[in-house]
Amino acid sequence: MTRKPRVFSGIQPSGNLHIGNYLGAIQQWVAGQGQKTNFICIVDLHAITVPQNPADLRRQTRELAALLLACGIDPQQTTLFVQSHVRAHAECSWVFSCITPLGWLERMTQYKAKAQKQESVMTGLLTYPVLMAADILLYDADEVPVGEDQKQHIELTRDLAQRFNYLFGETFVIPKPVIRESGARIMGLDDPTVKMSKSETARGHAIRIIDDPDEIRWAIKRAVTDSFNEIRFSDDPERAGVNNLLQIYELLTGRSRPEIEAHFAGKGYGALKRELAEVVIEALRPIRERYYQLMDDPAELDRILAIGAEQARAVAEPKMTLILERVGFVLPKDRR
Ligand code: TYM
Repeated sequence: MTRKPRVFSGIQPSGNLHIGNYLGAIQQWVAGQGQKTNFICIVDLHAITVPQNPADLRRQTRELAALLLACGIDPQQTTLFVQSHVRAHAECSWVFSCITPLGWLERMTQYKAKAQKQESVMTGLLTYPVLMAADILLYDADEVPVGEDQKQHIELTRDLAQRFNYLFGETFVIPKPVIRESGARIMGLDDPTVKMSKSETARGHAIRIIDDPDEIRWAIKRAVTDSFNEIRFSDDPERAGVNNLLQIYELLTGRSRPEIEAHFAGKGYGALKRELAEVVIEALRPIRERYYQLMDDPAELDRILAIGAEQARAVAEPKMTLILERVGFVLPKDRR
């Protein structure tokens, strides 16, 4: 019997989960459940590469678990777990950091962008993609569904897997990024030249998954558009605002592009915004309701995460043992 494709992806518990995360990544994770073996990881080790308040981090980790479940991640079909619950991630990351040329990391565009925003840059921010490679490779993932911004990190993961295989013998599956055509890069509503981001907290920048209807209407009403007053999909950077709104509409309604363009033919941007706001509100309503129910029962959340961690360890631990063996360590008794 051929094995089902393995899927691994991760998400940071940094709060403010938005519709870009949902459409770029989470929706794909949910859609793949059943046909594939899914591992979804809440990456708290990655979160601390920039300063975090400990109490906030702990709260946001549980909140993110609740949000992912509310979005449709089904713990019967997906191994949902917290990265720090599986020690192999940190352990593997160290081994990988010893075969990663510094130049590979200094080239990463996300590192350069994030480093610019920090007064003092910590080593972990630079080695962030090495930990990501550990996440993915420990599970022999075939596919990594992500938004466009993670593509470079997955290319580095592939390079690292090939390098390890070359140095120590065939050990890792070479994973491939899975990036949607539509939704790969949802842009800020207030500025369609930058991607929608969790760290941008200005009102009207993002639609957060738990925003209430009035907030959603407010943000979409004020979304930056253009003066063409023509509703069609386009790659033209000057039409990026409208294109972004149309992509959100496309992904939430499941309608085809020609159908959408025909539907809005002759209508103005005001009509697009009004209709889109209602589509977003209705799509997010059940998620928000389920989220609050789940947050009412933290013990149940912890139980789900404990089961996930156990399932993840069952895969990652034997792989880690193999890695340690390959690099030439004497294995302790409990690893043999
Ligand atoms: P993170 O937490 O920033 O984002 C989670 C997922 O959401 C996608 N995303 C977007 N997609 C479309 N439009 C946007 N505006 C947008 N913003 C974010 C991201 O591409 C991502 O798929 N480094 C990762 C977490 C990670 C990981 C991994 C991912 C750690 N280990 C292993 C895959 C495999 C991150 O910070 O994602």
